Formats: sequence, structure tokens, C-alpha cells
Amino acid sequence: MPIEADAGAWWKEAVVYQIYPRSFRDADGDGIGDLRGITEKLDYLAELGVDIVWLCPVCASPNVDNGYDVSDYRAIAPEFGTMEDFDRLVAEMRARGLKLMMDLVFNHSSDQHPWFRSARASKDSPYRDYYLWRDAPNDWRAVFGGSAWTRNEPTGDWYCHLFAPGQPDLNWENPALRRELYDVMRFWAGKGVAGFRLDVISFISKQPFDTPQAGVHFEFYANGPKVHLYLQEMRREVLAPLGVMSVGEAPGVSAQDAPLYVAAERGELDMIFHFDHAGLDRMPDDFWRPAPWRLSDLKDILIRWDRALAGRGWNSLYLGNHDLPRLLSRFGDTGAHRRAAATLFATMLLTLRGTPYIYQGDEIGMINTPFEAIGEFRDIVARNGWAAALAEGRAEHEFLAEHMQVSRDHARTPMQWDASRHGGFTSGTPWIRTNPDYAVTNVAAERADPGSVYHHYRRMIALRKATPALVHGDFVPVDAGNPDIFAYVRALDDVLLLVMLNVSAAAVDIGDLGRDGMMVTGNYDGHGRVLRPFEARVLRMAEEPGDYASPACSINEVDPAYMGLER
Ligand code: NOJ
Repeated sequence: MPIEADAGAWWKEAVVYQIYPRSFRDADGDGIGDLRGITEKLDYLAELGVDIVWLCPVCASPNVDNGYDVSDYRAIAPEFGTMEDFDRLVAEMRARGLKLMMDLVFNHSSDQHPWFRSARASKDSPYRDYYLWRDAPNDWRAVFGGSAWTRNEPTGDWYCHLFAPGQPDLNWENPALRRELYDVMRFWAGKGVAGFRLDVISFISKQPFDTPQAGVHFEFYANGPKVHLYLQEMRREVLAPLGVMSVGEAPGVSAQDAPLYVAAERGELDMIFHFDHAGLDRMPDDFWRPAPWRLSDLKDILIRWDRALAGRGWNSLYLGNHDLPRLLSRFGDTGAHRRAAATLFATMLLTLRGTPYIYQGDEIGMINTPFEAIGEFRDIVARNGWAAALAEGRAEHEFLAEHMQVSRDHARTPMQWDASRHGGFTSGTPWIRTNPDYAVTNVAAERADPGSVYHHYRRMIALRKATPALVHGDFVPVDAGNPDIFAYVRALDDVLLLVMLNVSAAAVDIGDLGRDGMMVTGNYDGHGRVLRPFEARVLRMAEEPGDYASPACSINEVDPAYMGLER
């Protein structure tokens, strides 16, 4: 794709860093992360080299689902600070060349939102039609367990909630509701916000109420008949005039359907997050139960999504977020090969085609927390899951063993800044337990060690920024059927980069693959015909043998020390 055609699509060249504000840094000692804490750490983010910071929801919320249940779309949650703190955060970000992406939860509100409080009190409320009401429930199931309908005592009918009862779904059929939501976007854009992450945006248009559903399948909720009409309207009314970028969370959207959401000529979203690899290690009929995964499936998914969007739209890339256990514990190694695995996934994330999203703590190689009892979990998914397991007569240790593999709380333990108490996250008592691993894995230790995971992320971010082929180049899988190795080429003009990733703890003979290449960067010293456990290599391939008699090439010139060429 010619680069000129991308003018204005600055977010294609950007690297995003996702912050879970509750767990990032607590400046006021109440045990909950806050906006001032984030401001304190902006130099760290600037040093890492990211461009956009995605903040998980910071609006007022009763926290049934940690901010994904909003009671006031224009107010900052008091536990996170004030609107002045927010304005200062934006100003300090701007001073460092960082952009802010807000997380907007528009599929549902909180049941404490004034709209819902009014709507539930009377059938005559002007806000009644902002929500979805039925005289009787149907068989739809909620993502967090139980029925998707709750009876509303004052009016005797039932309201729809695809998540918790405290998260009533908004009725997008109502144009007045849509106008309110667009105004909220204008409000935040007016404060200097550069982009929006739109929570479960694929769910906003509902299937007809008589559509039967068994179990919890994201495909059922997603792609309702009017979703594209709504998104096109949103683009026309707000996203385009405001000039903000957008990424929609899109569970239930297949690679095949993805261009409908992100092809530029459709005028909908800039990017979506798919769930294909989020569900890779889950039972097909229950997202909250673990299942084994295979590298070949992960490769298939990544390749399928690239192909589906190639030349048609733009991909978003993530390997971890606040809804998933830690990347290294899921797909990598938490023992002898931990550093290698962490740096391998950094290499993967930053060399695939699409905008990379780094989840807080992955850049220092954080891993799952050894929760010891159900009572230590904070997530509504754990609490509801345990209540259901109890009702089925299951033992605590059995539920715990299973939930440990899927818990969202693994991603929500405090960010590990240093080796002091609670990892330097708070001077008080953290709202969720700290991973004891902070004593060895923390930002201070990682920054001090040039061979660390953190420095590898920095190198890879710098390499990506200095290498148009890694952003705009073609993506061509190599030896796609190989069960241990994920290899691909990124190519633009005369630059041809070969990425080789051994996503396994075994040594793998790669024969002559990459033999003529010049090492750009890697996570081990030296390179022979065997890829060591979790070894990652990026090689610049010669167009003609012998092209590298002269070491100078565009990549070298950026920063030879950074690019690992001295190894
Ligand atoms: C997706 C969010 O990422 C998740 O954290 C939340 O629980 C659900 N949407 C419901 O808002």
C-alpha cells in the first residue's frame, strides 16, 4: 500500500499503551490507582517510546464492573481524582507528545445512571426508551452469568443487560439516546482527547427479541441488524468532524466480517479488537472455562486477520489486556525461559502488521498472581462464577484451579514499580493483592538492566518507528504449517525483513532459513541454524546475495546500538 495513501491515518504508525487506572499508580495512598499517579509516570511512558495512552474507564461509576458501569459520562470518578487532575494529565501528556484515548462504555450504562433511575421508576419517564424493556424475559444469557433480564419491581417488567444487572443495555434504536452519546464524545474531544476505545461496540444493535439463544456466544450478541447504520452515523456526526481516531471492541466479529467495520470507504471505525485469540484457550461454549491451546491455532488466527484486512482496513494487535490473564502465563513461559518468552512476544507484537497495543506490565514481563482463595479475587466474573459453582456443588479448590487460568484479576494486580512494599504502587493497602513477584520483577530493576524485557520493548518500539516496512510493509507468512515456529516477512520497497519466532521451550532446527540475512535484532546472542527456546530474530534479507558487504542500511542508521547490530 503506498504510504502517501495513509496521510492522516497517524494512528497506523502509533504504538498504544493501555493503562488500567485502578492498578497503575496510587498517588494519594488510598490503595486505588489514580490520575495523579498516571501523571507521575508519564516520563516513564515517554521513555518507553509509546505514542497513545488508552485509559480504561475513568468516569463516575458504582464499580460493579470497575468502571464499565458508568453513572455519569461527564464526571471523573472521585477515587481517580478530579476534572482538574484530568485536564492536567492531558496537558502533561501533550507536553511529552503523548495522545490520550478514552474508553467509552456506550452499550450499557450503570443502573445508577440518572437515565436508568428515572426509566425504572415509571413507564412515563422521558428516559424509559433509553433502555430495553420486555413484559417477560426470553432465554438470552448474560456474559457474566445468569439471565440477561432482570425484573424491575416498580414497573413489573424486565430490562435487558448483556453483562451484570447493574449494567442495563442502552437502546440505540432511540435517536435521542444516540445524540446524548455523541455529545459525550464532543465533550471529551473538547478536552483534548485524541481517540476513543468503544466498549463492546459490536453489541449495540440487538437481535430481535424472539431470536432463541443457548449459552453465551459472542456471535449471538454481535452484528445486530443496525450496527453498521449506527456506526456510520457516529462517524458522520462525531468521529469525522472531531478528527478523533476510534477502535471498537468487537467480540463476536469474524475476520470475514471485519472489513464491514473498518474498511475506510465504509466510514465506520478505524480499527476493531477481535476476540479470536482471546478465546483460544477457552471452551467453545463457555468463555470462563479454560481449554488447551496450540500455536498453530494462534498463527492461523493472526494470519487470517491480516489477510482479511490486507488492503481493505487496518488491524489492531494485542496479546494482553485487562480482561485476560497475563500473556506469559497463557502463551509463554514463567520459569527458565521467562525473559526469552517475554521478549519474543514483544518482537511479535511490534513486527506484525497493525497498530500494536501494549498492556501495562507486559513490558516488564509480569505474570499471573498466585491467588490462594476465592476471597482474594475482586472481579465480578470470579464472584458470579463461584456462586454458580457452589450451586452446582463444586469444591472451592476445583473452581479455584480452573478460575486461576482465566481470571481477569491477573491483569489487574498493581503495576510493579520497584522492590518496596506493594511494588511501589501505593503507600496504603492496595484494593487487590499485589503479586509477590514484584520483589524481583519491577520497573526499577528492568530499567537498570540493559538486557531486560523492558529494554527489549524500547528497542522494538524504536525499530518499528524507524522502519516503514514494519508499519506499512506487506506481511507474508513463511513455512506457515510449521508447528513450532512462527515466521514471516515484512517487505516494503527494497527492505525485506524476516521475523523468526520459536514459540516453544524446545530448540528447533530451522535449516537454512534466514542464513543469508543480516541480524537486525534478537533476544539471544549469536545466531545459528537452531532457534533456542523462545528465540526471536529479526533479519534483514538481501535482495541479492552479497548485498550486505557494506553494513550501511536504513535500519543501521537509526541507532546501531539500539538495533542490536553490535551483537
Ligand atoms: C469489555 C470490557 O473490556 C470488560 O472489562 C467489561 O467487563 C465488559 N466490556 C463490559 O463492559
